[in-house]
Amino acid sequence: MPKSSPILALVVSSLLSLVSGACVPHRDVPASEVPKLTSLSDLMDSQATIADPQFKKIGDEAKYTDADYAAFAEVSRRILATSTKSKDFTKGPAFDGFADKLHGTAEALGKAAEAKDGKASSAALAAMKQVCKDCHSSQR
Ligand code: HEC
Repeated sequence: MPKSSPILALVVSSLLSLVSGACVPHRDVPASEVPKLTSLSDLMDSQATIADPQFKKIGDEAKYTDADYAAFAEVSRRILATSTKSKDFTKGPAFDGFADKLHGTAEALGKAAEAKDGKASSAALAAMKQVCKDCHSSQR
């Protein structure tokens, strides 16, 4: 880029951010930003992005490291926020029941991760994954 064209550089970079802003879904919304989400679909993406990689560790409790427990704690924080927020997009009492159940598994995961309890962390992740599935088969 010639140094005489700062305006061109600005135009190019704002075009680039426009394009990526339009094409990339809100996949990795942190817990603090979850209350601002405007669709259930974006909320689900925010959950899946952080939870799916950790679900792969179910049953591997003998191998969990401090980094795993930190990741589990992050999932807990995110899902506590999303499960609360999801009620803004409710489909009725059954939906809210699943949201509450999901919230409970996130609380359990947070406690297990803080205690660095591998067995309880794995169990909480498995329970969480099951609630995702149960709600999808009943509400999706
Ligand atoms: C309270 C019910 C409920 C729970 C619990 C739930 N989901 Fe969903 N999920 C839905 C519904 C309803 C849709 C369809 C949303 C739509 O298309 O508007 C959906 C859609 C999705 C999608 C597709 C999103 C997209 O791009 O349109 C993903 C991914 C997803 N859920 C992941 C998860 C994960 C991971 C969990 C558990 C951590 C979970 N969900 C828990 C109800 C739920």
